[in-house]
Amino acid sequence: MILDRDSVQKPIRIRLRRPDNWHNHFRQKGDPRFAPTVAYIARQFARANAMGNIDPPILTATQMIGYWNDIREVAKAAGFLDFKPLMVVMASPNTTPAMLTAAFSAGAYGVKIMPANATTNSAHGIIDYKDPKFLDVLRVTRDQRRTALFHAELPSRPRAVRERAFIPILDQIRKKIPDLKICVEHISDAQMVEWVINQGDLVCATVTPHHMSVTSDMADQDPHLQCMPYPKSLQDVFAVRTAAMSHPRFFYGSDNASHLRPAKERTDASPASGVFTAPTELPVLVELFEAHGHLDQLEEFLCERGAHWHGVPLNQGEIELVRNPWDVPDVIDLCNGHEIVPYNTIPH
Ligand code: NCD
Ligand code: ZN
Repeated sequence: MILDRDSVQKPIRIRLRRPDNWHNHFRQKGDPRFAPTVAYIARQFARANAMGNIDPPILTATQMIGYWNDIREVAKAAGFLDFKPLMVVMASPNTTPAMLTAAFSAGAYGVKIMPANATTNSAHGIIDYKDPKFLDVLRVTRDQRRTALFHAELPSRPRAVRERAFIPILDQIRKKIPDLKICVEHISDAQMVEWVINQGDLVCATVTPHHMSVTSDMADQDPHLQCMPYPKSLQDVFAVRTAAMSHPRFFYGSDNASHLRPAKERTDASPASGVFTAPTELPVLVELFEAHGHLDQLEEFLCERGAHWHGVPLNQGEIELVRNPWDVPDVIDLCNGHEIVPYNTIPH
């Protein structure tokens, strides 16, 4: 990393290895959010995850290849010829070992496990973590040295404790399949942070910008900050942030998850869950790491730890971030009046 500071020691220019984003939602072809999101992400990242909770969900190798093609086509049209989507397949109660093997052979680095109805487009998700069919899915993942990516929440519990309530399930899985590689996605709870740290090298976590800054009080007042896992206490934010700024098994996954204004600002039902970080995420991360005196950890967190943990080569090439005044718009018109509110939370 190359860092230039001005006369009052504020960073003015940072050069980093091209970064990775290990958790991200592009949405899908035909959706007004799709092409603008791919462009925002591909502009900033060499590689980014393409989470498969679209409609219909990505459950098979064929669907995954189709989705990969759609993303690549749009990225190329926007001028990002070498952008690499990082593909996963979603688990459902009907996923078979053969389906998974085919998806892994087609390039999936893991299988995403979402609890049924815990979050956006998760109706196909898992209900019974003791189901022998589900355990077979995990065994194939272990045998093929891929990763089980967990949305680690128990939706039947109050949202403030949903993530910690999932720890006993992870403990049981580790007991049955100790050599399974597990990633706890968008970690949000101090108890889960401690759990991940205590597990050793086969367990990691992805961390979002908002779970390093946003508390439940803030989210209660702003639907655009609401996501699953729901933001938690200041103590949880502190634990997540401290791990991100110091621990080799905590790395970046923005969980960029766009929802248009009407879905976010509705008053007849709960707002849609998900935070639109794509337009602002790298500047936000620089500010956050700088505010906490850990800019020296940013390149590891953003560009290196995830690749090391997943066993893929580091990206070649660099990006340069230059400090310039920028009034982040309150609302972005994605196309034809489809409005969306970008994330722009100042660090705690
Ligand atoms: C995500 C989405 O909108 O797709 N929402 C969210 O609140 N994080 C789904 C997810 O990752 O849970
Ligand atoms: Zn997500």
